[in-house]
Amino acid sequence: MAFSEQFLQELADRNEIVGVVSSYVNLSRRSGANLFGLCPFHNEKTPSFCVSPDKQIYHCFGCGKGGSVINFIMEIENLSYPDAVAFLARRAGMDMPEDGNPAGRERRERMLSLNREAARFFHSALTAPGGRDGQDYIRRRGISPAMVTAFGLGYAADSWYALSDAMREKGYTEPELIDAGLANPNKSGGGVHDIFRNRLIFPVIDVRGNVIGFSGRILGDGEPKYLNNRETLVFSKSRNLFALNLAKKSKRGYMILSEGNIDVVSLHQAGFDCAVASLGTALTPEQARLLTRYTGEIVIAYDNDAAGQKAAQRAIRVLENLDLKVKVLRLTGAKDPDEFIQSRGADAFQNLLSGSANHVEYLLDSAAQKYDLTSNEEKVSYLKEAAGLIAGLHSPVEREVYAMRLSEQTGVNKTVVSEEIQRAERRKKNGEAKSAMRNAARDLRASVQPKERTLRYENERSALAEEGVIRLMYLDPSLLDGQTLTPEDFSSPTLGRLFGILREKAAQHATISLAALSATFTAEEIDHITAILQKPEVLANGRRALQDYINVIQTEKQTQSAEADLRAFAAQKRNKKGYGGAS
Ligand code: CTP
Ligand code: MN
Repeated sequence: MAFSEQFLQELADRNEIVGVVSSYVNLSRRSGANLFGLCPFHNEKTPSFCVSPDKQIYHCFGCGKGGSVINFIMEIENLSYPDAVAFLARRAGMDMPEDGNPAGRERRERMLSLNREAARFFHSALTAPGGRDGQDYIRRRGISPAMVTAFGLGYAADSWYALSDAMREKGYTEPELIDAGLANPNKSGGGVHDIFRNRLIFPVIDVRGNVIGFSGRILGDGEPKYLNNRETLVFSKSRNLFALNLAKKSKRGYMILSEGNIDVVSLHQAGFDCAVASLGTALTPEQARLLTRYTGEIVIAYDNDAAGQKAAQRAIRVLENLDLKVKVLRLTGAKDPDEFIQSRGADAFQNLLSGSANHVEYLLDSAAQKYDLTSNEEKVSYLKEAAGLIAGLHSPVEREVYAMRLSEQTGVNKTVVSEEIQRAERRKKNGEAKSAMRNAARDLRASVQPKERTLRYENERSALAEEGVIRLMYLDPSLLDGQTLTPEDFSSPTLGRLFGILREKAAQHATISLAALSATFTAEEIDHITAILQKPEVLANGRRALQDYINVIQTEKQTQSAEADLRAFAAQKRNKKGYGGAS
């Protein structure tokens, strides 16, 4: 985007990565030049999150997240790129450039205003005469007019062009409709068609009140039940929650996390104005962190089926590591919160809330349900499983409390139960040590045999050497002195471009950080570059290594162009002989 490279470099210089990361992660372990801590982006018990002060990057060997200090702030503070830049500028007491990123900001603003117009369009379509099907559906589901207004619900007619036509009339272009995830290009004949058709429309509104995207629920049966906006410049499923714009104002002091948008609406209608839902994915760590800004207690109220219960267990694991009280609701006699409230009423739901178990009780209870505790054999299996759950608790007091309960529940002597828990703790520790070793081995394999995650390489052999050149230059730009390598020698256009920039910097004796590169590379490219930089490279004998890499690159280039010549020659000959074809 359009921040200048100088500005971003200064930003990076003034926001040293170890300092920034340390205010979120305890980087207590050192290994070589790198610092390690527990990854804030996924759940783990042994540190695989690594920060390199030399390269000013972070990388998690567990979940693969990585990048510059800007990427880190985007992830952890749940901010867009320009907002993360502004955040770091503030942190370092720097002024934002006057016209900071005008192109990017303009595009965002256009997209947000298009989304707002689209929301208005869907909303008025619901009350228009043609909105009969939508109206009928809302009535059938018992949704009140007040909720239609509060959520800005809308209706997408069973039409391929209604929205696109209306938005074009308002001056939005087809590419803008496509970028916003509202239309797709037609397969043939040009033009675009609407993505949301024949659906009840839920605008997704962020905590600042921007319409960032849409979810559409099919009217009646059909697949998919929910269609969600694709990811856009302003919409990220993993960083937002449906109805958080409303729930953040609730006075209830907790938040209810449910699965379906209909459940959320139904809960709000019954007075539980603190209900939210994730946007069609399992609860993500980003969403969980977002919730911690507004509440200290989460009640999970997922559907009462196997999938819902499984999702609840996963959500517990995501929420468990944050400073949050977690409770889990067990619905009885209804498939989801909506059905429960419709059939039993708000008071019954309130009772359910008041009696809901904390997450440990919930997990123990779920385990107990699998066994027949009157059979001794099954009781032993339950005891083993429950001991495993209790062994995973961080607090010794909690472990003690639940050991006691388990002993009472099973009638097994407390000492025996405690011993079982200790055995489970030891097993866990061993397991973790083993999996840490497995991870290390996997990383080693990955570094020997790099896997391309984001970029495809045309010429693997050359590209690996190109990666090596980049790494060495990043560590010591002066190595390049006297070399004649050019960006055109590179087989990978992205790496060639990066090399061009690094070479220019080296000539000026200036350094460049990954953060500054985010001005000229896409997020995907930055991910890829991060992955390249975190592979091991030794500086001892750097000049020699660089020469080897360059030799590979230049030989590959010659071979390729020789092959191309040969192909051209062969084609020419075929043509002359009158075989026709390529010309
Ligand atoms: N879901 C989704 N996109 C959303 C919201 C939910 O894909 N924006 C998915 C959830 O991941 C979950 C399912 O939809 O798998 C939840 O659906 P359900 O509770 O059945 O939705 P309701 O609208 O409540 O449907 P029903 O009328 O059947 O209760
Ligand atoms: Mn439901």
